Amino acid sequence: MKKTALITALLGASAITAGAAWAEPVEDTLIINEETELTTWTDAPAAVEGALPEVISGWHFRGTETRAMQADDFDNPGMIFVEQAMDAWDTVEGEAGKSCASCHGDAGESMKGVRAVYPKWNEDAGEVRTLEMQVNACRTENMKAEPLKYTGTEMTSMLALISSVSRGMPINVATDGPVAETWEAGKELYYTRTGQLELSCANCHEDNYGRMIRADHLSQGQINGFPVYRLKNTKLNSVHARFKGCVRDTRAETFSPGSPEFVALELYVASRGNGLSVEGPSVRN
Ligand code: HEC
Ligand code: HEC
Repeated sequence: MKKTALITALLGASAITAGAAWAEPVEDTLIINEETELTTWTDAPAAVEGALPEVISGWHFRGTETRAMQADDFDNPGMIFVEQAMDAWDTVEGEAGKSCASCHGDAGESMKGVRAVYPKWNEDAGEVRTLEMQVNACRTENMKAEPLKYTGTEMTSMLALISSVSRGMPINVATDGPVAETWEAGKELYYTRTGQLELSCANCHEDNYGRMIRADHLSQGQINGFPVYRLKNTKLNSVHARFKGCVRDTRAETFSPGSPEFVALELYVASRGNGLSVEGPSVRN
């Protein structure tokens, strides 16, 4: 879509009021706790070859203060949820009388690297699983406990814990083999225009990143930073909740969190960030 057409679409719908200026993503280096340097801007992975010259974390599109909050665990509001999840990790629940720790031991050891490769193929189940699906599979099958709500605080906090122990490791989701079909389906969704505004994810996050839209600096819509603590709603937000919000902004009917469509979209969007560091829990406005 032509940039002018995008502006017309948005202006026509009175979605933006103040022009549509451009601003370069901020050049900066993300070092967490003065210790771990993250890759937040790097060469485009195979999944976006020809479509994007390079891939950039959403962190570079946020203001100075928001960026600083993410650089220190004491200032990152997402870390409170990580602490809560550490308690949940050790809590026995369900009829099997087990906690996550009963089988997985220390999360810092056993979960290191896990976030970086999800969504991934589960051979036994014969399906592509998001991390949320895997956590719930462990709860229902291994613990005989109730599943957690897909985008609820307990689930998102558990994901923040699992992500936090992989911070700095490169996203590396597979796109071929048994996941190829799902990946293709996700790609198709990414480029499909939806809603009254007839906008695809790509129209905003590929063709127009850098543009100011409703006082928001439009990023590439990467998911390496999830779960994301948003200053706007003061809670941790999951990938599918964000997808839902973005689809709704195009005035389209949206898919539900955990639906096969969003699982496919997540796999595809994750692969667009292959090579960026795991950042979650990150801070955004
Ligand atoms: C009764 C033992 C058991 C319990 C309790 C359990 N799990 Fe699991 N979990 C497993 C097994 C077995 C696997 C599969 C191992 C594998 O193939 O990687 C697994 C896999 C996982 C994975 C994927 C790891 C990977 O490398 O892909 C995650 C994430 C996970 N569990 C999280 C949890 C969480 C969170 C809890 C608590 C809510 C939990 N598990 C409770 C046995 C358990
Ligand atoms: C009308 C333009 C528009 C469309 C279409 C759109 N988004 Fe967004 N999206 C935004 C804006 C604005 C933000 C907030 C600023 C930012 O992070 O880019 C955002 C944020 C995001 C983020 C958060 C990035 C971060 O680092 O926190 C993700 C992920 C995302 N979008 C994915 C998608 C996906 C997937 C689609 C297609 C289903 C989509 N978006 C469609 C405008 C759009």
